[in-house]
Amino acid sequence: MTASHEGRLSVALVDVNEGHEADFLAIAREFSTVLARKEYGRADIVRDEASPLRFYAVRHWASASAAEACHGDVEVQALTQRLFKIARVTHVVNGVRRSNPLRLLTDDRRASAEADRRTGFDRRSQEVDRPEGDRRTGPDRRLGPRRLREKPGEVDLVGAARRARENADAAFSHFKVGAALETADGTVITGCNIENATYGLTICAERVAMFKALSEGHRAFTRIAIVADTEAPTPPCGACRQILWEFGGNLQITLANMTSEKGIHQLMDLLPLPFDARLL
Ligand code: THU
Repeated sequence: MTASHEGRLSVALVDVNEGHEADFLAIAREFSTVLARKEYGRADIVRDEASPLRFYAVRHWASASAAEACHGDVEVQALTQRLFKIARVTHVVNGVRRSNPLRLLTDDRRASAEADRRTGFDRRSQEVDRPEGDRRTGPDRRLGPRRLREKPGEVDLVGAARRARENADAAFSHFKVGAALETADGTVITGCNIENATYGLTICAERVAMFKALSEGHRAFTRIAIVADTEAPTPPCGACRQILWEFGGNLQITLANMTSEKGIHQLMDLLPLPFDARLL
């Protein structure tokens, strides 16, 4: 496989959930049609012969700006949302990056995994008693780049949000909230609310998670879990709905408290008539 002269090539690894191959191929056909009709470029689907449910989605962009326009296209985003429901998508080459677009994205993730191992407050400088060994299990299990190996839906997003909530700084309301956002490649990014003495500068858990993710280069998201310690579920506030919509699209939202899940919603149902860049 060769790149175009400008190097505007994107490759994603698509692991289709069992029983959804026909749906995937239909989405891929629609995607190809949109790409051609809007002159964004061309898309090829290559099956991995060694692994029948794995495909390589190769996109040859007409230009970097065509690739950017395609990513911001609502028709494309709707197709992507459908795809995320039936497959796990891992972007391996991103042709939109202006610096060295052909560098493998998985290399980036390996680099951050290495960084993770060296940092963190719980990095042990001396041996502590962990009879079960180093690999944490159950609610203690740590989330990080190694989640890439798991299938979609396997990540305990609510557990991650519960743990993130412990870091909330809610000195004024005493209302602690945790959020965990799943990116399209299965990475989990968490957030908690952080309050401020001026009150107005307070930031909600959901926005912290989204801004953290964006600042680390993530641009495609599938789900978010939001946790508070109340019987009634805590849905995202209006400002967060707007931010989540603009950057995450029609996310699946799980609301939970410390003991149980309280409901699953689509963001579109919580923000039915959104304002966004299409209207500018
Ligand atoms: N809060 C969140 O973090 N997320 C929500 O979905 C609702 C509200 C925070 C903001 C503030 O720190 C506290 O909860 C009370 O409003």
